Amino acid sequence: MNVLDFSNLKLAICADYGEVSRVSAGYVLGAVKDKANAVLGLATGSTPVGMYKEIVFAYKNGGADFSKVTTFNLDEYFPIKNTDSQSYIYFMKENLFGGINIDMENVNIPNGEAADAEVECLWYEEKIKAAGGIDLQVLGIGLNGHIGFNEPSPYFEAKTHYVSLDESTIKANSRFFESEDLVPRHALSMGVGTIMAAKKILLIVTGEAKAEILKETILGKITPEVPASVLQLHQNVTIVADRDAAKYFL
Ligand code: GLP
Repeated sequence: MNVLDFSNLKLAICADYGEVSRVSAGYVLGAVKDKANAVLGLATGSTPVGMYKEIVFAYKNGGADFSKVTTFNLDEYFPIKNTDSQSYIYFMKENLFGGINIDMENVNIPNGEAADAEVECLWYEEKIKAAGGIDLQVLGIGLNGHIGFNEPSPYFEAKTHYVSLDESTIKANSRFFESEDLVPRHALSMGVGTIMAAKKILLIVTGEAKAEILKETILGKITPEVPASVLQLHQNVTIVADRDAAKYFL
């Protein structure tokens, strides 16, 4: 692994997806070791699946205790049933929560079944505040530069909010659904301000398709049209990427 230092932002370049998953898992496990009651911000998508496998493996081998950990996921489709296999709560139970000793009372994900989306968003922000803020926020990145479901836009949304998904996101995420028509058109997502308030950020990026957007994120102009570019303004960001995604930095 080779680490490039852009002062507030570090780019760790790994050989392949396996190494990305191990390094990212080590980072999350380290946060929980340092602080037993850590507040973790978590992400969905295909990128972190390997990292979650590594975390579950470490837990099963006695390498971690999540009993006092609190989690906040970045986003959820809206509306969606919690039992729907495409919901993010379902994904998280399958990929992580079912395999570790987390207290489900301490798990938070925007509620896709909420009666009122706006009230749910306000409530979500309150819960993050009451938990003392997020210690470590895990992020993936969309091909269009979105973080959570903060889509390219003329302005940054600060707080958790109701989102209309981009056509490109609907297309990208249709691979998980039987047809594109079935992809929800809306979601609830932490805002850019919510994400930036995390003490540390871990962004995981893999695959050559993300090489261009990773370059923009690190070296491009800071603009809401590339939501991830705002990470240049955060004081403690680690990006873990494979060689394909980091090809412009080799
Ligand atoms: C989804 C999620 C994001 C995720 C992104 C990338 O739409 N809302 O949080 O980072 O897409 O997904 P993938 O890792 O599958 O490329």
